[in-house]
Amino acid sequence: MKVDGRHFRSIWLEPDGWSVGAIDQRRLPHDFVVARLTTGDAAVDAIRSMLVRGAPLIGATAAYGMALAMRADGSDAALDRAYKSLIAARPTAINLKWALDEMRSLLRPLPPAARAEAAYSRAGAIAEDDIAINQGIGRHGLALIESVAAAKKPGERVNVLTHCNAGWLATVDWGTATAPIYLAHDRGHAIHVWVDETRPRNQGASLTAWELGHHGVPHTVIPDNTGGHLMQHGMVDLVIVGTDRVTANGDVCNKIGTYLKALAAHDNGVPFYVALPSPTIDFTVDDGIREIPIEQRGPEEVSHMTGRTSDGRIETVRIVPDGSPVANYAFDVTPARLVTGLITERGVLKADRAALAAAFPERIAAAAE
Ligand code: MRU
Repeated sequence: MKVDGRHFRSIWLEPDGWSVGAIDQRRLPHDFVVARLTTGDAAVDAIRSMLVRGAPLIGATAAYGMALAMRADGSDAALDRAYKSLIAARPTAINLKWALDEMRSLLRPLPPAARAEAAYSRAGAIAEDDIAINQGIGRHGLALIESVAAAKKPGERVNVLTHCNAGWLATVDWGTATAPIYLAHDRGHAIHVWVDETRPRNQGASLTAWELGHHGVPHTVIPDNTGGHLMQHGMVDLVIVGTDRVTANGDVCNKIGTYLKALAAHDNGVPFYVALPSPTIDFTVDDGIREIPIEQRGPEEVSHMTGRTSDGRIETVRIVPDGSPVANYAFDVTPARLVTGLITERGVLKADRAALAAAFPERIAAAAE
């Protein structure tokens, strides 16, 4: 997507043909800074520190991280080391494991001297596939938005609520939840997005608002507690969120607070959709609440807030009394029964085992191996 008129992806291969460029998302929305990753360890650090974040982008970064590691040393030991450190970087998004398994199963049978080239080629393909998948999600999601628009009076806009950042910054390009929104906007539909600020990391306020604004999509940032009120007053037509992992039976793990939005949507008859690329489906897991590991992050994300002062300085301030303990669960699980539909690259599916298995038979077969 465009940043100040220039096309960017969230991650790319630099013109030198080996180092990897990425937008440093820790600096947004106040500064647009590009980072250059030159080692496998730098990729681990980029994922762990949330320089990059969002399930599909974490997967693509891990794939490039593997390529960087193989460039330095193509041995079995280096391959195992890179896999182990990358997979430990963040626990919840399954795209990380998916991408690393893809890379390892390709590289392991090759002679060490051939691994770097093969790794770069597969990492590039994972990135390109992510874009194509998101465009597919966009087309299927657009039909949902268009059917809401068709029932509106002339001049009325379609109001979508989203949580966290499942935009192009969380993927390689286009985003998952945002792909239908960008397509609808580009086709001239009147669309407006309620952007949950998404405490404690504020991915909505800092990232989703930034990218929607750069693309010219009308949006309003709201405190996380506001969605229920808006739904009670008919101000939300549909909810579209992303996800970090969907289980075989359609449970959805996503940024903390997603479950509460699903409950509010259910109570108010507002459709609740989840947009996902197929690498986000984990066919090895059934019960999302019991089986998905939920990342717990540092207390300072809750106890402190960072922002720009009126004189332009970036400052971090404490907002919790000294000594008060805080809890920071990064994700929650929305049970499949609260999900209206899963927007995938192969269509809008019911959130259940039969629909997922019918749409992605090759994934379920691979999971059984
Ligand atoms: O902790 P983050 O910022 O990596 O969490 C990201 C989210 O929860 C996204 O909404 C999710 O990964 C979907 S990304 C298309």
